[in-house]
This record gives sequence, C-alpha cells and structure tokens, in this order.
Amino acid sequence: MRKKIVAGNWKMNKSKTEAVALAQDLLSADFDKTVDLLIIPPFLYASELAEACADSRVQVGVQNCSEHTSGAYTGEVSVSMIRSVGVSHVLVGHSERREYFGEQNAVLAQKVDQVLAAGLTPIYCCGEQLSEREKNNHFSLVKSQLEEGLFHLSAEAIQQCVIAYEPVWAIGTGVTATADQAQEMHAFIRQLLTDQYGESVAQAIPVLYGGSCKPDNAQELFANSDVDGGLIGGASLVASDFVAIANSF
Ligand code: PGA
Repeated sequence: MRKKIVAGNWKMNKSKTEAVALAQDLLSADFDKTVDLLIIPPFLYASELAEACADSRVQVGVQNCSEHTSGAYTGEVSVSMIRSVGVSHVLVGHSERREYFGEQNAVLAQKVDQVLAAGLTPIYCCGEQLSEREKNNHFSLVKSQLEEGLFHLSAEAIQQCVIAYEPVWAIGTGVTATADQAQEMHAFIRQLLTDQYGESVAQAIPVLYGGSCKPDNAQELFANSDVDGGLIGGASLVASDFVAIANSF
C-alpha cells in the first residue's frame, strides 16, 4: 500500500503570528488516521513550526533548498540546515521555481541528491504549461522532467522520493485538471517508473496531484487509483479547507 499524503504549500504567505495560528488549528483538528500530513511554510517559520509539530502527526517541509552543501552562497539555505531544525521534506522544482527562478532539470537533480544525502524526502514537482498541453506535448515534457531530474537515482534512492504532478495551468487559477486528466498523467508517470525501475518500485512511490485542489474536488481526484494525495496551495492557507481535503480519501 502506497502512502497517502496531503501537503500544504503555503508559498510566500502569512506573518509569523498567522503561521503559528494556522499550525495550531491543524494540530487540534481531526484527521483521517491513514493520511500523512505535511505543512510547507516559508523558511523563516520552519524551525519554530517543526518544534511545535514535533510530537504530532503533522510533518514540516520547506519549499526549496540549495544545490550546494555549504559556503559562500548568500541568501541560500542548505539541506543540513534544513535537517538541523527538524524539517523532513523539501519541495524540489515547483513550477514557480522553474518559471520565475530559472531552475532547470539539471540543477533540480543536484537538489534531489542533496536532499537524499541529508536523509530527507524530496517532493519532486513536474507538470506542463497550458501551451504544451495544447500542442499535445505534455507527456513528453513530463517524461523529460522526470528523466533529467530524477531518473539518475538508483532504485533504492527513488523509493525515498515523492512525486507531485502539477499542471501549471491549474495552479492558483481555479481551473482543476479533471479527475480523468489527472489519472491519465499519473498512470503515465507510474508507467515511466515501471519502465525505468520495475513494477514493485513504481508501485511504492506516491504521486500527488496539485493545482486548484479544493474541498469540493479533492474526493474525485483522490479516488483515482494512481493519485496518492495532493499538494495544496491556496486551500492550505485555510485550516478548515486543508482538513476537509485531507479527509477526502
Ligand atoms: P494551488 O497551488 O492549490 O493554489 O493551485 C498548488 C501548488 O502550487 O502547489
């Protein structure tokens, strides 16, 4: 049985007071016992929130990391720093990092290696722009994102990873991929994993859906056999919405 995971990517939102209050609301909420819960706050709050969540089932991730180990990289945060504050997961290659910060598959492969070397879990994001879907390029684009960012890993290492498929045209737009579109791409990703690593490895890796996932569409999305949960942006900023999504399996 693959893990079911619901992760809240808070992006660049919330003051410290608001962030702590949101975490407290989640800590006192009633969640489906079978779901792994993850919050992904801005770096500045990760340490405090990891401490607040330490004895709970809410895990804490961060939204990015450096591809370097340490040294003169002003403004960057290394995986050993991230690990030292009790964070367990790192988003790698979110479409906003790819689009606004020029992150390409080769550097993302280095970040994945850093995260794994620190003993943390990378959540490797992939997904196409609308223009690529319109040209019917979306399968080959996602394939190259996975091949170039992830498939250098051994079978053992890739089983420590989580994949998130996020069609860029569905992120923050209110337009969700239909359940069929999500399942189609998730099944494609599973097949790529099977071709590369074999059936049992492919069956072990959680593949999350992200892009305007809300309480009213989560159930339909999560009902798909290859959708193992969600990476939630906007709706993760409201405790009751995040709880409702996490309880949608
Ligand atoms: P959204 O964002 O839920 O606001 O569409 C998802 C994401 O970018 O992770």
